[in-house]
Amino acid sequence: MGIVDDKSIVREYFNATGFDRWRRIYGDSEVNKVQLDIRQGHQLTVDTVLAWLKQDTQLDRLSICDAGCGVGSLSIPLAACGAKVYASDISTKMVEEAQQRAAVSLPPEKLPTFEVSDLEALTGKYNTVVCLDVLIHYPQDKASEMIGKLSSLAESRIIISFAPKTIFYSLLKKIGDFFPGPSKATRAYLHSEASIIQALTARGWHIHRKNMNKTRFYFSRVIEATRQISD
Ligand SMILES: C[S@@+](CC[C@H](N)C(=O)[O-])C[C@H]1O[C@@H](n2cnc3c(N)ncnc32)[C@H](O)[C@@H]1O
Repeated sequence: MGIVDDKSIVREYFNATGFDRWRRIYGDSEVNKVQLDIRQGHQLTVDTVLAWLKQDTQLDRLSICDAGCGVGSLSIPLAACGAKVYASDISTKMVEEAQQRAAVSLPPEKLPTFEVSDLEALTGKYNTVVCLDVLIHYPQDKASEMIGKLSSLAESRIIISFAPKTIFYSLLKKIGDFFPGPSKATRAYLHSEASIIQALTARGWHIHRKNMNKTRFYFSRVIEATRQISD
């Protein structure tokens, strides 16, 4: 399948069945056991990133680009802490949902700036660029290109998560247990950690922290990279 196809399929999915599925997973309504497990796993990833960023005493002055923001699971709590958040997603439906959620939980002065945009079309400079659980939708060469784009937007820090390609997870994916349930309509790509690190270090980033979040059906490696400090 071509790269353009991957992107339009992903966009369509997250504007239709994928929107319904993920809006519920990333919410607090009743869901089935598998979806609840994925919800809890994803929350671990959001909590990891929040904890890392909160260690920055200047959080209320940081500009943060949340690329592929989904329904705002990270953008909203970051904005609540005072960060200047630029939240974007390729799916109009996801952005609309994020906007509605932000409007009910944040005062107007703290609202993120929302935009419907492919992350590769983003412009500007942000202190920190975050991209969570998006690379899973793209093959390795495309993921590296995307890291290049995210890297050009980031001034001092980039945080990305991906589903790691290990023997265990490759097997799990092979036996079709990767996205259980009826709406597993997009392809899921696993990425080797070495290839992600290579894409970052080749662009002058230094790996600062890593974390692995996993539950039964959710697994995500989070990597924080900072600019190499020259002597
Ligand atoms: C699994 S969700 C993760 C959402 C969010 N980052 C989070 O962790 O809560 C993946 C999101 O990436 C978005 N996405 C996929 N490809 C994208 C692209 N090329 N540019 C921007 N967003 C994209 C999808 O529309 C979807 O909202």
